[in-house]
Amino acid sequence: MKTEPLVLGIETSCDETAIGIVRGRRLLANVIASSVEEHALFGGVVPEIASRAHLESMLIILDTALKESKICLNDIDAVAVTAGPGLVGALLVGVASATGLALGLGKPLYGVNHLAAHVSVDLLTHEAPVESTIALLVSGGHSSLLQVDDITSSVVKLGESMDDAAGEAFDKIARVMGLGFPGGPAIDREAKLGNAKAIDFPRGLTQSRDWLTRPFDFSFSGLKTAVARYLEATPTYARADVAASFQEAIVDVLLLKALAACKQTGIDTLVIAGGVAANSRLRQLAQERAAVAKVRLRIPPAGLCTDNGAMVAALGSLMVAAGRAPSHIDVEADSSLPVTTVSLP
Ligand code: KG4
Ligand code: ZN
Repeated sequence: MKTEPLVLGIETSCDETAIGIVRGRRLLANVIASSVEEHALFGGVVPEIASRAHLESMLIILDTALKESKICLNDIDAVAVTAGPGLVGALLVGVASATGLALGLGKPLYGVNHLAAHVSVDLLTHEAPVESTIALLVSGGHSSLLQVDDITSSVVKLGESMDDAAGEAFDKIARVMGLGFPGGPAIDREAKLGNAKAIDFPRGLTQSRDWLTRPFDFSFSGLKTAVARYLEATPTYARADVAASFQEAIVDVLLLKALAACKQTGIDTLVIAGGVAANSRLRQLAQERAAVAKVRLRIPPAGLCTDNGAMVAALGSLMVAAGRAPSHIDVEADSSLPVTTVSLP
């Protein structure tokens, strides 16, 4: 079994067509084509447009990634691909491409979980986790708190959002404020000009009884409604103050719960992953609070937080190094793959 396997990872779960190549824990190529501008016209991702864009970009991206990494396709030890969760038509393009590559090269195929891949990308920039970690996974489709004892085999869900994902809340509020799509980066930018204490927006599931019954679950729908009502009732609202106060409410709750999970489980490492982990306020406040709580914090660089192929290759590399069995060559995409299923048989 190779400890430094050369793995090609393909990601097509949403609007990014992406291929990453890693050797062990070293990133050799990370190429991304996004169809986000085509979706921006509609204010959200249109699945048919995403699938078509994946088909159009796949071979170009593959060619670019091979050139960037200066490797030859035949040298690859394994192919990894996001098998779910995500948009089914989009996933199918990636899985079909990966299957074709693996078959053609006679190499093993790993159909892996997009969410576990988000957490795994951390290994490209930090020491590999030697012990258990708590993972706060915050993306456009998911907000979960996980206990990860081994990212290749053991992911336990401690809690998740009861309604919108954190990224979804950013996107929806940005839309009502006319900030465009995707909303997270737009709110992040706008919030830098505003006062986070200007408006006291609600923090969902943080009442005393919630800490007893749902300590690690999230809810952002009350916050969303509160912001929408505020905007309606205040025609002359200060956009930057609303953005900063809304962002503060989300970030505050995410970190309160993530650090509470560290405390309750006695695990002193926290990984923050997924597109929302690119948020500058989340990154800053996480540093401050983790230092106070004496928790070791690991957040991948912002460019590796949003969807990419490197994270899929990173998880594939870990799977190979751990001696995990590859997936069957006709593995099927699963659009609602649970976060606890790291890879498909
Ligand atoms: O992980 P990701 O790239 O795709 C999914 O798996 O969903 O996450 C995309 C989400 C979007 O909702 C986007 O608005 C959000 O991540 N996002 C951000 C930032 N950059 C991306 N949210 C807050 N602040 C950011 N800087
Ligand atoms: Zn993602």
